[in-house]
Amino acid sequence: MAFFSLVLLLFLSPHPGQAQLPESVSPPTPLPSASSAPEKKPPSRHAYVGDEACRSCHQEKVKTYLGTAHHLASYWPGEHPISGNFIAGSNIFRTANPYLHFEMSATPEGYFQTAVEELAPSKTISRTERIAVIAGAARKGQSYLFWKGDQLFQLPVTYWTERDSWGNSPGYPDGSPRFDRAIVPRCLECHGSYFEWLPPPVNRYNKTSLVLGIWCEKCHGPGREHVTRNRSKSPPRPGGESEAIVNPALLSRDRQMDVCALCHSGAATPIQPALSFLPGGVLDDYIINLHYASADTPVDVHASQVQLLRRSRCFQSSTTLTCMTCHDVHMPQRDAAAFSPHCLTCHQAKDCGRYPKLGDQIARNCIDCHMPLQETQAIFSNSNGKKFKPLVRNHRIAIYPDAQAP
Ligand code: HEC
Ligand code: HEC
Ligand code: HEC
Ligand code: HEC
Ligand code: HEC
Ligand code: HEC
Ligand code: HEC
Repeated sequence: MAFFSLVLLLFLSPHPGQAQLPESVSPPTPLPSASSAPEKKPPSRHAYVGDEACRSCHQEKVKTYLGTAHHLASYWPGEHPISGNFIAGSNIFRTANPYLHFEMSATPEGYFQTAVEELAPSKTISRTERIAVIAGAARKGQSYLFWKGDQLFQLPVTYWTERDSWGNSPGYPDGSPRFDRAIVPRCLECHGSYFEWLPPPVNRYNKTSLVLGIWCEKCHGPGREHVTRNRSKSPPRPGGESEAIVNPALLSRDRQMDVCALCHSGAATPIQPALSFLPGGVLDDYIINLHYASADTPVDVHASQVQLLRRSRCFQSSTTLTCMTCHDVHMPQRDAAAFSPHCLTCHQAKDCGRYPKLGDQIARNCIDCHMPLQETQAIFSNSNGKKFKPLVRNHRIAIYPDAQAP
């Protein structure tokens, strides 16, 4: 059944509005419209110092940040626990093809996925690949990548957290032992921090250049100069130009949104090389995404938080609302109730049409009614044909007459 792999693809594709296309087919080559702009170059690796270098002066931030999904957006095996279940009995994924199954194994040499295909009774062939990179903090799922020479590919089986079970990876058809989905730079741009790519094919990288996880400098820009100046005898005045680091809070609203939109506005067509966009820059000069689409273009609730927030009256009628109004990205996420106080910086509970009926009890629950959990259009189904739809927070703050607070 190809259905499961398709729907998994829809879900994990950060932009299910166009999720009929696997992420890997978004054209990596510049569009003609952008060819007039000179090609931008990413900063050299030397301009970056990495998170540990921030610790000595921003200890608290580094400490809490290491527990966030951003930090865990990709990592090496052994660096943090892996989420997939490798225990005998739970480590088999049976596909729609009765002659094909996958086995996940953990050995002292590492983690492996093996495709086992039965050609005739007691005659099998198999292919085994080692997990080289873990992608996803497993809030919803976790995928795995492997090297073939210096080319990076996605492994065929993905772990699905809510079901605590294995399923086909996005982009792979069910029941076919394939290992050929290329990891393009855009994937690493959203889930990682730094890498050097080699001449085509598009998934060739300098292996030792990969920096996994999203580091501080992804939102703050290259930090070497900032560190050097602050270690010098006459450090810069806080908050001044001479800080040589980007504080997103000091950017205009559009530029603040762009810091997050690089990765939270769904699939996009790059028109400049990966890693060349830096915080403070104008994202439209680097990628083309749905933010251009008209207000009624359907946008899925999954991973298109920027478009959805922009469609809220709260956003359009205020000048200050951004992602940072509600999220402190240096802290692991809290539960939904903890967000209501942010609504109350602009509203009062009694502004709500439900206040007369429900009274003060609504005060802790603005979110469930005005940013309801909704099913993505991406439907999941396991290989036994059982379907379910994962829930995500709709970031269009609005009136949803049917929504209810628990
Ligand atoms: C040698 C000490 C030192 C190191 C290392 C350091 N910083 Fe800073 N940083 C400071 C000081 C001092 C300030 C100004 C006071 C403050 O805002 O805490 C500052 C301010 C900042 C600001 C706010 C700037 C502004 O304009 O408001 C950001 C953002 C920042 N640092 C990020 C980082 C990041 C990211 C790293 C690691 C790449 C880092 N810092 C490493 C000392 C340091
Ligand atoms: C480099 C790409 C990138 C940038 C820039 C980025 N994010 Fe994310 N963000 C991700 C990825 C990838 C995930 C999913 C991580 C996972 O679960 O594996 C994520 C997850 C999240 C989550 C859910 C998990 C959690 O920790 O709460 C929130 C909220 C979030 N991002 C907010 C933001 C905000 C706000 C900004 C801008 C200040 C931002 N992000 C910038 C890539 C990015
Ligand atoms: C445009 C940026 C972007 C690209 C490209 C992208 N992702 Fe993501 N990915 C995200 C964001 C943002 C989330 C979190 C979405 C949410 O919670 O709504 C996410 C979530 C995930 C998750 C689930 C993480 C969790 O904690 O549940 C996995 C697994 C994943 N991505 C793998 C990949 C792989 C593998 C690729 C490349 C083949 C890829 N993604 C490409 C931005 C991206
Ligand atoms: C996903 C984007 C993102 C990442 C990753 C990130 N920051 Fe920030 N940072 C922000 C934003 C947005 C602000 C401004 C709003 C705020 O203060 O939360 C900020 C503000 C700051 C400030 C100045 C304000 C203050 O509270 O002192 C410092 C210092 C800082 N960050 C350090 C760090 C360090 C160190 C790391 C890595 C451990 C890091 N940041 C990772 C987005 C990010
Ligand atoms: C930065 C200020 C700000 C924040 C924060 C904010 N809003 Fe709003 N909101 C507004 C403004 C301004 C309007 C438009 C009021 C008007 O036009 O009369 C609005 C409108 C609304 C509306 C009417 C929407 C419609 O489509 O008619 C609802 C409902 C609402 N807000 C709920 C919330 C909730 C719930 C939160 C927290 C999740 C929130 N707001 C956070 C400023 C804000
Ligand atoms: C008005 C408050 C508010 C604003 C503004 C806001 N968020 Fe959220 N966000 C939430 C709440 C509430 C949740 C759900 C938290 C939970 O359920 O634990 C959430 C969850 C998320 C998640 C996890 C999604 C999921 O379903 O797992 C991501 C990713 C995210 N936000 C990104 C962003 C980005 C990017 C922006 C800016 C475009 C943004 N948020 C602006 C309140 C907000
Ligand atoms: C039980 C669900 C529920 C909860 C909880 C809830 N709301 Fe509402 N809210 C609604 C509905 C439904 C409406 C539409 C008005 C109506 O018909 O009653 C509304 C209307 C609004 C409006 C628009 C009023 C107008 O006339 O334009 C605002 C602003 C608002 N709510 C803010 C909030 C805030 C802030 C909170 C948290 C303190 C909150 N709401 C909690 C369901 C809820």
